[in-house]
Amino acid sequence: MNGDGDETRSPWWRGAVVYQIYPRSFLDTSGDGVGDLRGIISRLDHLARLGVDAIWISPFYRSPMADFGYDVSDYCDVDPIFGTLEDADRLIAAAHDRGLRVLVDWVPNHTSDRHPWFVDSRSSRDAVRRDWYFWRDGREDGPPNNWWAVFGGPAWTYDDRTGQWYLHLFLPQQPDLNWGNPEVVASMHDVLRFWLDRGVDGFRIDVAHLIGKDPALPDQPAALGQLDRVGIHNDPRTHLLLRGIRRVVDSYPGERVTVGEVNLHETSAIRAYYGQRDELHMAFNFLPLSVEWTAAAWRDLIETVERELGPGAWPTWVLSNHDTRRHRTRLGGDERRARAAAVLLLTLRGTPFMYQGEELGLEDADVPEERRVDPGGRDGCRAPIPWTPERGHGWPVEDPWLPWPPEAGRRSVEAERDDPGSMFHLYRALLIERRSSPALSQGEIRVEPSPGGILAYERRAGDDVRQVLVSFADRELDVPLEHGWTASVRSAGEAPWDGRLQPNEAVVLRPR
Ligand code: NOJ
Repeated sequence: MNGDGDETRSPWWRGAVVYQIYPRSFLDTSGDGVGDLRGIISRLDHLARLGVDAIWISPFYRSPMADFGYDVSDYCDVDPIFGTLEDADRLIAAAHDRGLRVLVDWVPNHTSDRHPWFVDSRSSRDAVRRDWYFWRDGREDGPPNNWWAVFGGPAWTYDDRTGQWYLHLFLPQQPDLNWGNPEVVASMHDVLRFWLDRGVDGFRIDVAHLIGKDPALPDQPAALGQLDRVGIHNDPRTHLLLRGIRRVVDSYPGERVTVGEVNLHETSAIRAYYGQRDELHMAFNFLPLSVEWTAAAWRDLIETVERELGPGAWPTWVLSNHDTRRHRTRLGGDERRARAAAVLLLTLRGTPFMYQGEELGLEDADVPEERRVDPGGRDGCRAPIPWTPERGHGWPVEDPWLPWPPEAGRRSVEAERDDPGSMFHLYRALLIERRSSPALSQGEIRVEPSPGGILAYERRAGDDVRQVLVSFADRELDVPLEHGWTASVRSAGEAPWDGRLQPNEAVVLRPR
């Protein structure tokens, strides 16, 4: 059994909706203004009520926090700012009690520079773990090659102690692990087992496509200039490594799953990381984060995904995450568009990944210069979640580590739960509809011809069928559709279906 199901049985994650928790900003219980694992445990009921199937938690391991947890100094312990290992165990158990699966974030490409492995590696040229990272002599005019780091500057830092340079595709505090060394592979597999043994249902794999590297570390073409590696690195060695990772994960019972970040821009290139159902179970596809808000652009995106992933590679959909502007902000702050986008996310063929707070329609916080902390300028989308309308919004401090998002009171969980017309209730209705419809959760998709400004598609599984219509227009539009359909969910409100789409409205129709 390869954990990817077969033609007759589908694994759980194909029908699931995954909710991303960014733990620093979910909820604080300790009073230090930073969210923690106990905060997550205390609000799992919100997620169960919302109706998602699984959570993915961004890193909560020991970390100096140069990249807010994506610089790990101990993969097998919880950073005290987030709690303890016992809290992690309690969180996994409490989620499972509510029927929620748990994915943890695994960061294989790099460690923190404070990780004991790197501390040893940098200590001398003869260190036991010298070869666990990439150490090279410089060239006459500087670093060993012309690669650039994601947060700016060369991807190499010179270390006085041993007179060599080390590679880091991100910050200098995030040295790249050398996956060409079998001891690195074995140690990182042990990390997977550590969490699998604790009962996690799978992993979100950070920049999964970066781990394979040609040990010669050749220059990138000069024409690419200072373009960092993340969008272009595509080394065949990665596939062999992913197959090893897959074997570890699939050796556990219960359809454990991997979803990997593959930040390449071509869907056909991303397809390769699913292998022959023996590499990633799913790969993120970030194209929707930059697609234009037009029917033509979305139609093209959906058709490209269908064509290029083909039947063997299950798609993923994402509108927002902790690395990019929230989609409502991207869509000009327009709530109608954000609502229509929610319908797209939850009715397209594939596994949707929601980001905490999108069920509230949050926008990015406006973070004043003196409060910006992220080296990648991503503070706005990481603003804390408001739980209640009053000051402090349910956090034990009034002013957490980042400022509140706009309209935090009106958009708090409590306020939206009490308002049947809120974004929260739209997500809830869509999740209920999706759960009750095999067509929506697992079925085929067929993009239909439609008038300008409208995207139309059908989802079908056996006798179960849904039509989805999305208007990208700023005026009301008539939809020529034969009779016999009734609205299950309308993004603009609960009015019965009358054959007209409001501006930027999306509707899910079922046979009457
Ligand atoms: C992708 C993560 O999502 C991002 O937050 C992080 O900065 C980089 N990988 C480096 O780990």
